[in-house]
Order: sequence, then structure tokens, then C-alpha cells
Amino acid sequence: MKFVLATANKGKISEMREILAARSIEGVSQAEVGLALEVEEIGTTFMENALLKAQAVCAASGLPAIADDSGLMVDALGGEPGVYSSSFGGEALSDSERYAYLLKKMENMEQRDAKFVSTIVCTSPDGEIISAEGECHGEILHAPRGSGGFGYDPVFLVKGTGKSMAELSPEEKNAVSHRGAALRAFVSLLEKRGKYDK
Ligand code: IMP
Repeated sequence: MKFVLATANKGKISEMREILAARSIEGVSQAEVGLALEVEEIGTTFMENALLKAQAVCAASGLPAIADDSGLMVDALGGEPGVYSSSFGGEALSDSERYAYLLKKMENMEQRDAKFVSTIVCTSPDGEIISAEGECHGEILHAPRGSGGFGYDPVFLVKGTGKSMAELSPEEKNAVSHRGAALRAFVSLLEKRGKYDK
């Protein structure tokens, strides 16, 4: 079973591919189906943005498409950066500049609870929409640790592991991450709807 992954984020592509491959589902990148599409994320919720991305890629490719819209929600910041995680501190920042901006903002904060959230939306050419959500709880470290993953991974201590998300192997991250949880919930829904033909 083949789905186009509606994202240009290389970190997301490799994680989504691995998680789906474990369930014998093939995820192909937009580039692999000859699609150069950057969908503007104008929604105000994870769901709206995931739907925008999945629908655009499904329409352009004629294939079922899976989008992930995700982000980091920090309790002490009232849930920020949330849906605006990828542009927090400014569009042009690199991943390390962006998490440095977050650490600076939280410099004197003792309450550091946070979670990653992921909303997965899959749209099919027949119009069917399936969505699922996942979360991963933890806290914001005072300094970065580790070199794996992407985005805010080095500053996110994963609850119950003693490790930052960037210190986990790709397999360990997929087992505990918001994206892993959301994609596994999505595959269960596919199975229930009888759409799971390996
Ligand atoms: P979007 O879903 O394309 O809007 O981007 C989500 C943003 O949230 C990413 O650019 C990262 O900054 C952050 N993010 C989402 N998932 C992860 C993750 O697994 N690790 C680290 N950062 C993440």
C-alpha cells in the first residue's frame, strides 16, 4: 500500500517512512512522485494545516496522501509555540537558533513541562479522510543534549527515559514520539476500515 508523504521536512519524511514500513506500508516523498509543492500553512489548528497539506498533495498527485502537522506545546508559555513551532522566533532561524530562542525565553522558568503533539491526516482520491493524533510528554531542558532527530529534539527531555529526544536512536524516538503514536493510531483506523491491504 502506497501513500505520498505530504511534507518537505526531511526529518519527518524519514521518521514517517520508518514508522509506516514497520506496518508494511510504503511512504513515498513528494519528490519521488515528481511533485514540487510547498503548501502554505494558513490554518490556526494542527488539524486545519494537516488537512490543507494532505488535500493539496492528494489532488496534485492523484494518490492517497498523509500529512503530519505537529509542534511543541510548553505549559509555562500557555501552549506556545504550538501550531507556530516551525516559525517561532522568526521564519529564517535554523533549528539550533530556534531552540536557543526558546531556552532564552524560559531562562528563569522553573516550570518546564511540555509536550509534542502530532495530528495525522490522510486523504484519498475518493474523498475519504482519516485522522489521528499522538502526544509525547516531557520537559524543556536548560541546555541542548544529543545530535539526533530535528527541530526541538535536543532541548526536550522525554518523560521516563532520562534522555533528550535527540539522544534517542531513530527506533527509540519512533517508539515514544507523538508522530509514532499518531501514525500507529492511523494504521489501526485503516485496519478497522478494511483498507489495510499489504
Ligand atoms: P509543521 O508541522 O510543518 O508546521 O512543523 C512542525 C514544527 O514543530 C517543526 O518544524 C519543529 O520545529 C517542531 N516539531 C514537530 N515535530 C518535532 C519533532 O519530532 N522533534 C522536534 N521538533 C518537532
